[in-house]
Amino acid sequence: MSQTNTAPLRQRALLTDEQLAHLPTHHPLKTAHTGESAMIRTLTGRSADHSPVWFMRQAGRSLPEYRQIREGIPMLDSCLNPELAAEITLQPVRRHGVDAAIFFSDIVIPMKLAGVGVDIVPGRGPVLDAPVRTLEDIKNLPELEDSALDPIRQAVALTVEQLGSTPLIGFAGAPFTVAAYMVEGGPSRDHLRPRTMMHANPEAWEALGQWAARTSAQFLAAQIEAGASAVQLFDSWAGSLGQADYRRFVQPHSAVTLAAIEHYGVPRIHFGTGTAELLPAMLEAGADVIGVDYRLPLSEAQRRLGGGIVLQGNIDPALLASGWDALAAHTDSVLEEGRCAPAHVVNLGHGVPPTTDPTVLTRLVEYIHTQTRKAS
Ligand code: CP3
Repeated sequence: MSQTNTAPLRQRALLTDEQLAHLPTHHPLKTAHTGESAMIRTLTGRSADHSPVWFMRQAGRSLPEYRQIREGIPMLDSCLNPELAAEITLQPVRRHGVDAAIFFSDIVIPMKLAGVGVDIVPGRGPVLDAPVRTLEDIKNLPELEDSALDPIRQAVALTVEQLGSTPLIGFAGAPFTVAAYMVEGGPSRDHLRPRTMMHANPEAWEALGQWAARTSAQFLAAQIEAGASAVQLFDSWAGSLGQADYRRFVQPHSAVTLAAIEHYGVPRIHFGTGTAELLPAMLEAGADVIGVDYRLPLSEAQRRLGGGIVLQGNIDPALLASGWDALAAHTDSVLEEGRCAPAHVVNLGHGVPPTTDPTVLTRLVEYIHTQTRKAS
């Protein structure tokens, strides 16, 4: 049995009037009171009438309506078409009744908008025309112009208009995960090249980390200003790093990205996979909420974090296909583990697999809401 946490909440002040002053007057935190939704209340460590749930990769190939609307349209084109991106973002909210939308985009969009040659190859992932491997390559990287982010701002604005009081979560790839794709030139299992570059050419790594940190910060700021009520920084591949390398070569860059948006006051979730050894360092990077992957029980994550941290996670995506009884039992244990946190946002421990039966996700949302609903 995990115990209800009694440690003082190590929560930064969030959603204060002073911070919200940095948001435009039409922001949904001001006009649609998304700050009172179960999702934002929970992300900011307050109680809510039920535990909120969203799923990483809830928008995408597990949904027939997504496959239909995307037919014949390349992935990155659909991200840059504001109407289409908004519609795809809304699809899982309508279908599953999740407590938040996650903006339909991709971590490579900022580099694409800066002018880097990149595409998403179906079934493979992001592939660059030319990998970025030398200091010269990095010095030649184009800067992301603010106006290039207009399609993102438009898509977010269209989305939040239709979401009403349901919050939109914006996101960006963390500098390491983005840089790992740039150095490898494509997906990789072990991320050997970026991990070699850190030590072989620290000057080049530092320059690339800075480029990725400011580009991700711009991408997040554009989404927040256009209406996102929370953000998640995805460091999906940080788990390939040892703690010493993470602290020396990665954490400072993630900290720059997270600090650049702190003044908006919206909760910042920091998530990676295989990060059991890195959780305290990821928190120190400046996150408000830690996303935990499926490998570590939430109570153990909380212990490593020192207590009092709002957690997100961590249903194993494999259980989505294991039959309802096994999934319900596993979900019960995740909910019980979540009691170790001052507040718990339910999510998967990584993204929805494309083969998932969408009716299972809908049933799971209902189940989580019912199991956690407080008597009024
Ligand atoms: O619902 C959501 O989570 C919102 C949209 C979203 C996508 N990518 C859409 C997408 C988000 C948040 C991402 C982030 C992203 N992209 C990450 C971090 C999260 C993670 O999964 O760890 C990473 C590492 C990427 C890079 C990327 N983009 C990969 C590895 C792939 C998969 C390649 C493949 O085809 O299997 C993509 C493509 C991608 N991004 C798809 C979607 C819906 C599939 C493309 C398609 O539908 O044709």
